[in-house]
Amino acid sequence: METTWSSDLTNRIAVITGGSRGIGFAAASKLGSLGAQVVLVSKSQQSVDSAVNSLTGMGFKASGFAVDLADSDSVAETFNQNQLALNADILINSAGVMSERTAKTLRTSATEWKRVLGANLDGTFNTISVIGPQMVTRRSGRIINVSACLGRFSGPGLAGGLAPYRISKSAVNALTKNLATELGQGRRGILVDAMCPNHSRTDMGGPDAPRSAEEGAETIVWLATRNHDEQTQTGLLWEDQQIVPW
Ligand SMILES: NC(=O)c1ccc[n+]([C@@H]2O[C@H](COP(=O)([O-])OP(=O)(O)OC[C@H]3O[C@@H](n4cnc5c(N)ncnc54)[C@H](OP(=O)(O)O)[C@@H]3O)[C@@H](O)[C@H]2O)c1
Repeated sequence: METTWSSDLTNRIAVITGGSRGIGFAAASKLGSLGAQVVLVSKSQQSVDSAVNSLTGMGFKASGFAVDLADSDSVAETFNQNQLALNADILINSAGVMSERTAKTLRTSATEWKRVLGANLDGTFNTISVIGPQMVTRRSGRIINVSACLGRFSGPGLAGGLAPYRISKSAVNALTKNLATELGQGRRGILVDAMCPNHSRTDMGGPDAPRSAEEGAETIVWLATRNHDEQTQTGLLWEDQQIVPW
């Protein structure tokens, strides 16, 4: 089991879904600056190409491909064609969509439900399904699921509304905890955690959000680079490098 990681990520591969924009792109930039080979995965090829060009222009090792993460067959096919992605040391599931503002439970159409759950929950499950087994074989890896405090069963999670979004993120939290338990809470070399970036200035968060995308990505980068020893806690929800209640 590999436990010692350093913040020098040379020779590490990081797959970042939603890496073409917003918080995912900010995380990819930071990991690229630490030496990681980053692989961006997003829905639109144009969006991926533009982000890859930006990162390589900054001197970082970057590539990427487009796939609808909600489609399990396409995810399996594209990842199996990309050895770098398949062998990721770090998987950051940042891809996501917000639900319609009017999406109270009784006003949510089946189409809207599937759109949001598909991208946010199925997408997270689909990438873990293809990359997770390779991490288990190597007994080494980091899985970081970008959740949201709107998905908690406490604090900001209690306001109602945005039903598919909140429920998708609650389910991502449940997936995180379940998988971490199945993997022995880090004893098999793999850390699995969820995090809340907090309201950040991105296409999703809007221009008036209090945090920059880079600030929103800070805890992702910390989770991707922290050391792993007997005391390391995993299978948790993190915000600003602190554990927060589910
Ligand atoms: N921004 C906030 O205030 C905030 C707060 C709490 C949590 N979050 C969470 O943080 C994560 C990142 O949010 P963000 O603000 O950075 O969002 P964003 O700027 O809107 O970017 C969303 C990213 O997800 C990708 N994506 C969406 N659906 C996809 C699909 N079906 N298949 C593949 N890629 C897909 C997009 O790809 P394309 O470029 O190809 O469209 C894009 O790269 C999300 O999970 C979000 O729920 C954000």
